[in-house]
Amino acid sequence: MRYHFQFTVLAFSALFLVSCGSSETEKTPAKEEPAAEKALAGNATKGKSLYMTCATCHGQNAEGMQALGAPALANQEPYYLKNQLQNFRTNKRGVHEKDAFGAQMAPMAKVLDSDGILDVIAYIKTMPSPTIEQTLEDGDVEAGKNYYNMICGACHGNGAVGIEALFSPRLVGMQDWYLERQLNNFRAGYRGMEAGDTYGAQMQQIAAAIPDDKTVKDVVAYINSLNAE
Ligand code: HEC
Ligand code: HEC
Repeated sequence: MRYHFQFTVLAFSALFLVSCGSSETEKTPAKEEPAAEKALAGNATKGKSLYMTCATCHGQNAEGMQALGAPALANQEPYYLKNQLQNFRTNKRGVHEKDAFGAQMAPMAKVLDSDGILDVIAYIKTMPSPTIEQTLEDGDVEAGKNYYNMICGACHGNGAVGIEALFSPRLVGMQDWYLERQLNNFRAGYRGMEAGDTYGAQMQQIAAAIPDDKTVKDVVAYINSLNAE
């Protein structure tokens, strides 16, 4: 009799444990944040003090400063900002002897550790979206649109907003003088040629196939036209 009772209790508690266990596993996935958000959980308050140095070149609101060659950061996607800061920090960008602007940025990334990178990005993402000035005078928007749709759109997306899964940046919302310089840096092999720069190398090959300077200007003129929308 007593033996039977103990058995029932054991069986009952075993059942109870099993049911707890399964409800636990049902709940876990719902609670989990998407990997990207988790990886970019920075502290904006800490980031604000780190950003003081950056403001000298990128501006108080990360709107960019043409005179110093520093692009707007406030419109750019967090995953891409993170990759580029890591690239500068680990000598995958800004090391070519002819990459004068990259050389100014690289030492700035080297003072950040991996938490610092997330913190400064969290602060940048609190800033309002800056208005982007247009400086490019020539460039055929229609021709640029055709080239963009034929070559670039597959990786940078419709409307040039970037595709996180491909690690490709947003292009709309970046200054024309900066886009033109990056395309020419890739074409000349000043960017995208360092060992370990997987995504830069993909872009470098595409840029190297751009037939001429006019096509670069056309595509940038098309991206400018998206800014105006
Ligand atoms: C001395 C001026 C200077 C300072 C200070 C500086 N930057 Fe830069 N930064 C630049 C320049 C110039 C470029 C463009 C490099 C190029 O043309 O490849 C750049 C590029 C970048 C890029 C790449 C953007 C893109 O779309 O690829 C990021 C991200 C960036 N800076 C973040 C920062 C952060 C964060 C700080 C502060 C820790 C900082 N910068 C401080 C000058 C500076
Ligand atoms: C195979 C995919 C692919 C194609 C096609 C492609 N890109 Fe890219 N592009 C990338 C990736 C990935 C990066 C980021 C490289 C890095 O991490 O340094 C990039 C970076 C860039 C940058 C640098 C932006 C910045 O903020 O520094 C510009 C400008 C650019 N691409 C323009 C273009 C244009 C214009 C075309 C069409 C002629 C094009 N891309 C086609 C994948 C692509």
